[in-house]
Amino acid sequence: MKLSFVKSPLKQIKADVLAVFLFQDTQLFQRDARTLGRLFGSRIAPLFDAGDFLGKEKDTAVVYLGRGHKSPRLLLVGIGEQTKLTPERLRRAAAMAAKKAKTLKASSLALAIPTLRKDVPDSIVALCEGASLALYKFDKYLTKEPEDLKKIQEIILCSGDGAAANAAGGAVRRAQIIVDATVAARDLANAPGNEIYPETLAEATKKSGEQFGFRVTVLEESEIEELGMGGVLGVCQGSSKPARFIILEYGTGGKPVVLVGKGVTFDTGGISIKPAASMAEMKMDMSGAAAVIGTFQAIARLKLPVHVVGLIPAVENMPSGSAVKPGDIIRHFNGKTSEVDNTDAEGRLILADALGYASRYNPAAVVDLATLTGACVVALGHVVTGMMGNDEGLMKRLKAAGEKTFERLWELPLYDEYEKLIKSDVADVKNVGGRWGGAITAGWFLKKFVGNYKWAHLDIAGTAILEEHGEYTQRGASGVGVRLLTEFLKSWK
Ligand code: BES
Ligand code: ZN
Ligand code: ZN
Repeated sequence: MKLSFVKSPLKQIKADVLAVFLFQDTQLFQRDARTLGRLFGSRIAPLFDAGDFLGKEKDTAVVYLGRGHKSPRLLLVGIGEQTKLTPERLRRAAAMAAKKAKTLKASSLALAIPTLRKDVPDSIVALCEGASLALYKFDKYLTKEPEDLKKIQEIILCSGDGAAANAAGGAVRRAQIIVDATVAARDLANAPGNEIYPETLAEATKKSGEQFGFRVTVLEESEIEELGMGGVLGVCQGSSKPARFIILEYGTGGKPVVLVGKGVTFDTGGISIKPAASMAEMKMDMSGAAAVIGTFQAIARLKLPVHVVGLIPAVENMPSGSAVKPGDIIRHFNGKTSEVDNTDAEGRLILADALGYASRYNPAAVVDLATLTGACVVALGHVVTGMMGNDEGLMKRLKAAGEKTFERLWELPLYDEYEKLIKSDVADVKNVGGRWGGAITAGWFLKKFVGNYKWAHLDIAGTAILEEHGEYTQRGASGVGVRLLTEFLKSWK
């Protein structure tokens, strides 16, 4: 989606749909109604007289302006009370505008920036995010009908007001970068398993690195073996697709922040095979990896002054005669052993190696993202990401970034009492902890492999893979993590 900004009075804007946002507060509403009446003439008054549009959240109305107007359609969108306005409310309102414009078969949409009292640049970014992300569709495999080709091609933010205009140019450029990166993550995660497997995920990462300016090193299976990453090797050994260990790096100097992304390009469950129903969604089991790759794209384009390393263990989890079996014992990168009780708990096995490897960088902090457990979805649904970790300060920073971007995080406790649930008689740790507290026992497993650094684990199983559409998300991959981590890194130093 192409985003742009023009400084211009409303009446001069030329787009298939011109959307304006109205507050519901009586005085503001009447002021804006009068202004619109003055600008666009007699067709406006009947709408307000009828009382059909009150400026409440989710209120919309289309007015056909007729000859003599540059934009044929004026779309009114309510944004509720001014004191309750948040960036998220703007995201949702812009998403409504975009979806409405789409049903009107518009190819260009203009969004008039409302009068904002605070958070001006962030609010403009929010408008851009809501409108662009609402229009996302994973359609590259659809053989298109001519009718479907008519898509919204560009979104034009506009304002005639000097103060908003000053902030808007930069905000729209920033939004373009963030939206592109989120879309890239969605595209990667939505891509089917026959397109994205470890080798092609590595290639896609390299391509992104070349295009946007970050370094990518790909370790092949022989190197993974030399390093002694038994978790990565164990999980991939049933598949005909070789594993890859992808290392991304952006910036230099100082201790880096390390981002680890689970890169299971397809999770059948292995010998502990999953039921057929909804197994297809396990093509998105590399959503953590996609979030890391998208974040690198964003921070490189934004030229953030940070040093960041990304680690992606990439494997396909398949059953076969050579697959890892329940009861097998694996030796991980840091020398610790784990008993594989269930081959479907594969994410933690590969993350264990990556978390061990992270110590090599003497990191300032390590954040891992993983579609790790169904238990996290049971606990929190698709609304919020589960967070665990060993450092309150780090988790607080992440949580704050999550509130800003509305990719919210909720802490689950890594209390000591959970540790015994993953005790093994034959190895240092067992890869499953029984029926209860599954998100936490998975977190505890990871904690056993965390080095001497600050660490947070984000279980995105519920928030990365969606069953239904939302305001600006669709069924399938949400691209969660990109906006969150970009915001987190923006305020890192
Ligand atoms: N990739 C899955 C977790 C998952 C489930 C993500 C549903 C998104 C939606 C993970 O590898 C897995 O299979 N976990 C098992 C662990 C169990 C065997 C202890 C699970 O959650 O059932
Ligand atoms: Zn699994
Ligand atoms: Zn998995």
